Amino acid sequence: MLKCRECKECNGYACRGEIPGVGGKDTGRAFINNVEALKKVKINMDVCFEPGEVSTETEILGLKMSMPVFSAPVAGIQNNYGYEISEYDYSCLMLKGCRDAGILGFTGDGINLEELFVKPAMAINDLGGMGIATIKPWVKEGVDARIEALKGLNVAMAAMDVDAAGLPLLRAGKTPVETKGVEQLRYIREALNKKFIVKGVMTVHAAETAVEAGADAIVVSNHGGRVMDDTPGTVEVLPEIVKAVKGKITILVDGGIRSGNDVFKCLALGADGVLIGRPFALACVKEGSQGVTALAAKYQDQLKQAMLMTGCHTIKDITKEKVIVTK
Ligand SMILES: Cc1cc2nc3c(=O)[nH]c(=O)nc-3n(C[C@H](O)[C@H](O)[C@H](O)COP(=O)(O)O)c2cc1C
Repeated sequence: MLKCRECKECNGYACRGEIPGVGGKDTGRAFINNVEALKKVKINMDVCFEPGEVSTETEILGLKMSMPVFSAPVAGIQNNYGYEISEYDYSCLMLKGCRDAGILGFTGDGINLEELFVKPAMAINDLGGMGIATIKPWVKEGVDARIEALKGLNVAMAAMDVDAAGLPLLRAGKTPVETKGVEQLRYIREALNKKFIVKGVMTVHAAETAVEAGADAIVVSNHGGRVMDDTPGTVEVLPEIVKAVKGKITILVDGGIRSGNDVFKCLALGADGVLIGRPFALACVKEGSQGVTALAAKYQDQLKQAMLMTGCHTIKDITKEKVIVTK
């Protein structure tokens, strides 16, 4: 039986505190805040524009995509979803589903270097490099082992989920995780020799640190509410981060995004793209790569519809005037 209850609305209430599982940490409020914050953003419908084609196509970090959406890294699929599949097979299905939809997927990481990091990275390699390998914020030795593993593989880019620095299980390991400042992030960026994304940014300070370290992108993220209780929703902090670093670094965001309308809202608030976690993971374990492609197609249709109904012909037309943020 799957640990995910497959709720009609994936909002963090039913699975509060379920880790392992798919919930948010402790009271689950950080996950819930992500979803609730997006509900407070309303879209300004206005169709009094010249007619014309609507395109969701975009380019992010030099990659052409059918829309500005990525599948987020979701590691430990057996443990968290209760679904018997290897991390490699899961990653292949997810990445293939994304590739067929014209988008990209991230893979994850864990204590078991070979199973949880190298094999998912091999899945990226086996699918022509179209994926992003995410490294946990290990101490140097652990990071170096993963950078070394990536050297022989065709992997488009790499990321680090810096927000995993406090996870008790990972702090207790042989190469524990640690927090990362400018020096450590700069070292990783240089050692990687490929585009580097800092995932888990929730403040202007963290965003500016990523810029100073030479990172190529940030993901405004609280790890789907799984690393700390009581953080704000990600779209609550997105506008101030956008104000501080827009134009200096690519800005991605995740947390609670459940529709093309939600994608639209994040873009209007200044993000260049979004990551979606649980819905893609569930689609993948239930229906494999076809489920992922079908879900991406649904989001793309919804995004296109939102663009049509707001007079946006291209992704660049989605500006902050297109939404209202209510209290
Ligand atoms: C079961 C599970 C495992 C996850 N594993 C990772 C991981 O290994 N690395 C990472 O950066 N984020 C991980 N995340 C966080 C997601 O990448 C993403 O930030 C979050 O799920 C986005 O929120 P959403 O699921 O509400 O869309 C995980 C999330 C879940 C639910």
